[in-house]
Amino acid sequence: MSNIVKVHPHTPERRVIEAAAEILCKGGLVAFPTETVYGLGALALNPHAVRKIFTAKDRPDWDPLIVHVRDLPMAHALMKRLQPQFELLVSRFWPGPLTLVVEKAAQVPDEVTAGRPNVALRMPWHPVAAALLDITGAPVAAPSANRFGRPSPTRAEHVTEDLGDRVDMILDAGPTPMGVESTVLDLTQSPVKILRPGGVSREQLEKVIGAVQLATGIGDEAAQAGLAGPGMTLKHYAPRAAVELFENAEEIHARADKLRAQGKRVAVLDTASTIERLAQTVFAQLRDLDTQGIEIILCHLPPPQGLGLAVRDRLLRAAGKGGQT
Ligand code: TXA
Ligand code: MG
Repeated sequence: MSNIVKVHPHTPERRVIEAAAEILCKGGLVAFPTETVYGLGALALNPHAVRKIFTAKDRPDWDPLIVHVRDLPMAHALMKRLQPQFELLVSRFWPGPLTLVVEKAAQVPDEVTAGRPNVALRMPWHPVAAALLDITGAPVAAPSANRFGRPSPTRAEHVTEDLGDRVDMILDAGPTPMGVESTVLDLTQSPVKILRPGGVSREQLEKVIGAVQLATGIGDEAAQAGLAGPGMTLKHYAPRAAVELFENAEEIHARADKLRAQGKRVAVLDTASTIERLAQTVFAQLRDLDTQGIEIILCHLPPPQGLGLAVRDRLLRAAGKGGQT
């Protein structure tokens, strides 16, 4: 029997959400859409359920999870203290694609934070995610619902591809609206730092709290040593094909012709329309090209402004070159 259940993206059917919430409350795994990408959810305060996420994804245990909350009281219960800019940022960007790293309350299990003293919190606006959190009535830990290192899932089919029956239920609400993950902002450092660029741009943040720094991409070794989040590892979001990046779009076609003449299976990523459209489709394009057996993907990098910073970051990681710049 299939574990995929269709649900309306704007007005989710209550009985579907109730069935999903029941699975979560019993310690099971539910994949669900958010405005960014599909997440693989489990009860955040149940260490046994949280461990299942790591097993299902083949995720290394040093990679901490984002905890999704329904409302502010739920967030406050997971925090040790209120960081200075927390309330201002929350009033402006929650619910939405901004994840805030804060000092964790004692009740947050080490399994969620990979033993760190900090926890990453986010309040999604997607109606299905919001309804699921609402009916579950408890915080839900959820990384992106892909196998570790694969492109993030923006459609339920991607979740099936990577996780299949390792998950108890997949809520299918169609393609996710934004397509790149949330911005992860560390409020425990001063000045605050973007650990991963995402759906809320650096410019939007700076309008509210002033200058914001970008963490520089670092390798797995440092991530394992607890120096940074692994969204910061160099090779992440990677397709099986090799990815070659170009600042200058004019160079792409000559390179494609040369590779084809050598008998290679080559494709050019479609970056022609708006940055919003590219963000929505970039992960699905990488997956589709893999399915077609493409060996080399050529891609024009968008400029690092607005949503462009996040898309660039993912493409640089897909090419194994670290991110953000
Ligand atoms: O949009 C999103 O953020 C999606 C949806 C499902 O909410 N989630 C997501 O989760 O992308 P994940 O696990 O794939 O990426 C979470 C990022 C990782 O880079 C992780 O290292 C970082 O957040 N992170 C989580 N907890 C952290 C912590 N305590 N300190 C520093 N970084 C943390
Ligand atoms: Mg991920």
